[in-house]
Amino acid sequence: MNSEAICQESLIAARRRWLDRYRFSVRVSELGRVASVGDGIVWIEGLPTAAIDEVLKIEDGSRAMVFHLTEELVGAILLEETDQLAAGCLVSHSGQHLGIPVGDELLSRIVDPLGRPLDGLTAIECKNRREIDVLSPPIVERDFVKRPLYTGNKIIDTLIPIGKGQRQLIIGDNGLGKSSLVLDIVINQKGKQVRCVYVLIGQKRSSVMNTVETLKAAGTLEFTTIVVADAAALPGLQYLAPFAGTAIAEDWMRRGLDTLVIYDDLTTHADCYRELSLLLRRPPGREAYPADIFYLHSRLLERSTCLSAKMGGGSLTALPLVETKEGELASYIPTNLISITDGQIYFSEPLFSGGFLPAIDVTRSVSRIGGRAQDAGIRKEAGRMKLDYLRFLELEVFTRFGAKLEKSIERQIQRGRVLREILKQDQQAPLPIEFQMAWLVAFNSGLFDGAGLEEIPGDLEYLARRVAASTLTLSSPREEWVGAVKRWFSEKRERIGVGDEQKG
Ligand SMILES: Nc1ncnc2c1ncn2[C@@H]1O[C@H](COP(=O)(O)OP(=O)(O)O)[C@@H](O)[C@H]1O
Ligand SMILES: [Mg+2]
Repeated sequence: MNSEAICQESLIAARRRWLDRYRFSVRVSELGRVASVGDGIVWIEGLPTAAIDEVLKIEDGSRAMVFHLTEELVGAILLEETDQLAAGCLVSHSGQHLGIPVGDELLSRIVDPLGRPLDGLTAIECKNRREIDVLSPPIVERDFVKRPLYTGNKIIDTLIPIGKGQRQLIIGDNGLGKSSLVLDIVINQKGKQVRCVYVLIGQKRSSVMNTVETLKAAGTLEFTTIVVADAAALPGLQYLAPFAGTAIAEDWMRRGLDTLVIYDDLTTHADCYRELSLLLRRPPGREAYPADIFYLHSRLLERSTCLSAKMGGGSLTALPLVETKEGELASYIPTNLISITDGQIYFSEPLFSGGFLPAIDVTRSVSRIGGRAQDAGIRKEAGRMKLDYLRFLELEVFTRFGAKLEKSIERQIQRGRVLREILKQDQQAPLPIEFQMAWLVAFNSGLFDGAGLEEIPGDLEYLARRVAASTLTLSSPREEWVGAVKRWFSEKRERIGVGDEQKG
């Protein structure tokens, strides 16, 4: 017998065995029918056993997730929609909660909240899946936030330090540089073994493209996944995007890795949740948001943490962005998020229009737990610098009246102006932590005193070059830092002196 015949023979045998074992029986399955569809939601008749968050399969191939239950109807948000979806389509249970593919295969990819590729590249085949909405790790699995997450930003790394596993809110009006800051923070993770997930919610396609291009050009894609539900995506997907991003990062965290998730932004997310809730006729609460919006966001952000060594020691740091209107911090969603997170970085319009970029208002920004993760040396230097800065902000008010000031006060104001110049930072130019130490030491030792404001950028650039070429680290003693920085500054002065002589 040839192999084909053997094959056929065994096929027939298998069929026969199946037939022999086949028994007629009653199988109960529940079917519903689409009552109406539109605006990204479906109402379904039937399906009395449907449960919240369950995924439903619709006859045309669409999928929906149960969002609201009434006595007669099931309200669901669409996850996928085909052109054939219409009233009358049959709906069945899937018996499953929504899960997405997770794993290293997602690195350097752009995906939608269901893990489908949006970058036009090959299909993503992950070995593992993870439910989108899971409980946050229990207290016993957690550890304190005690390792720093460096942002590369002068103000944050010195005055508002962030630790791995922290939730730090980025808050401010539209167009003040919030997204630019978080992009820089991602760029700064290059070579630092931190996996990043950048979640873009409800943004215009053009700004999505800009973000993707920036991340790509900066060479960050190899350790980053971008999750996108743009303004044209189904509202259900926009609502799920932050949960999907968190699930992707959680998988890495559970494998002992450090991760950073950015939610850009949660105001749009809240609005999307409100839209879905109103469409599905849930009772509106304050500002028409559903009453559980606080619970929704706290459940999301509770998932970021630092796991204990026993659990692998991974971490998930969260940077949610929230947009205010005219700097109003007291409106509903911002106050919610301020109380859920471990601190906030506040962007101020007057600083932005005054050309102080990044426009971070130090007086209104806090990091409640990051201090514990900050290097002790940096913390000490930054504390001294902060006192000088706050004193300057108080004194600066007097200069507006043109009052004649004492010499010592004038000196403090001049020192503060220099400091403000030092704190300015360009976009896409994150700085290593050793450089932060160097400028802090230089400032605290008075090496910038008497410098003209226009000299500061050049001085800082020079300092950065010297730090990069030196072997000093954060664990070097302070005297070594002071000695080195003083030497660099005097060498610079000498060189300038020589240059002047040659010119003369
Ligand atoms: N440090 C900076 N230096 C120069 N320009 C900046 C800086 N930060 C932000 N910008 C500019 O400010 C504008 C608004 O920034 P963006 O990040 O889009 O704001 P937001 O996300 O708060 O709406 C952009 O044009 C950006 O180039
Ligand atoms: Mg933005």
